Amino acid sequence: MSTTLITGIAELVTCDDEREGELGIVHDAAVVVDGEQIRWVGAAAQAPDADERRDLGGRAVLPGFVDSHTHLVFAGDRSAEFTARMTGEPYDGGGIAVSMAATRGASDEELRSLIGARLEQMRAQGTTSWEIKSGYGLNVEHEARSLRIAKEFTDETTFLGAHVVPPEAREDRAAYVDLVAGEMLEACAPHAKWIDVFCEPNSTYAFTGEESRRVLEAGAAKGLGLRVHGNQLGPGPGVQLAVELGAASVDHCTFLSDDDVEAVAGSDTVATVLPGVEFSTRMPYPRARDLIDAGATVALASDCNPGTCYSNSIPFVIALAVREMRLTPAEAVWAATRGAAKSLQRSDIGVVRVGARADLAVLDAPSYLHLAYRPGVPIASAL
Ligand code: NIG
Ligand code: FE
Repeated sequence: MSTTLITGIAELVTCDDEREGELGIVHDAAVVVDGEQIRWVGAAAQAPDADERRDLGGRAVLPGFVDSHTHLVFAGDRSAEFTARMTGEPYDGGGIAVSMAATRGASDEELRSLIGARLEQMRAQGTTSWEIKSGYGLNVEHEARSLRIAKEFTDETTFLGAHVVPPEAREDRAAYVDLVAGEMLEACAPHAKWIDVFCEPNSTYAFTGEESRRVLEAGAAKGLGLRVHGNQLGPGPGVQLAVELGAASVDHCTFLSDDDVEAVAGSDTVATVLPGVEFSTRMPYPRARDLIDAGATVALASDCNPGTCYSNSIPFVIALAVREMRLTPAEAVWAATRGAAKSLQRSDIGVVRVGARADLAVLDAPSYLHLAYRPGVPIASAL
């Protein structure tokens, strides 16, 4: 395979912990890629020869963003729900049934084309890897279909049959939990790497700690890795359950007690914060500063979904993390690359080093600092 020498990199953010500093930055850098993998990283003055050359003219280069939490398989429109929320309606997860009906009604081709368009927008903003959840099918046929289609776009697929109890099953929640942990899991496991649960004990629609445990344990027994939507709408058992079961990630973490912060910090579970959700639901932002100070590994992702955050922009999320959660720009960039990769238990993405995937983001700016400094300006794109 032919190699390309990329030069004109004023600032290379590697997120390689074998390099110095928080982000392992190399100034006046060069990278050699072969299309699939990174072959060489270092100072431009020492760069080896390659088959082709590309000069970026003094820009910043970063690992491509890793969006480790998305719900991209959906059809339909909930802009009216968002508008009502902005004038005071609370978010309670009830709108998921609206997306479920539209998603069930869409053809495979329609879903593929919606996902493809969303991914194009993401690449245009610097995202190069993505996790995709099911969760708008909510019966055996449509959850399996959602995951089969998601798998065409990524290996990081997550079975979220336990998103909410669908309207037709509300008379008998226990039967729905049995279905998710039984026949639905059976049909979905071949298309999924992960299983996730919306654990929210005080919601009419989502799942209690015990229901969540049941689904997660069934998924683990099938060989799926664990992820949890925890403590999004109020305090609850989600975070501690995720830690206890050794989940790769607990996501949202909007309502955390000191014990929750301590539990995550003392574990290998990554805390994934999704501040686009708090922006779009007018909720308080998560205690990401406290999580980092306590020693937790924090990831940042979009949560792109039709209900709580119809934005797939990682630069936007980085700006929110800095402005609203008091992360430094370096912490926010690390969380959206290396941190998110860790939440997917991947060492080949979210980092610029020899052997990693040749997934890079380039900024039309000389430094990563511009990501938080210039919100809404389209400076980032996938290289
Ligand atoms: O991550 N919390 C659960 N699921 C999504 C929202 C889904 C929806 O409202 O459509 C989330 O916020
Ligand atoms: Fe989510």
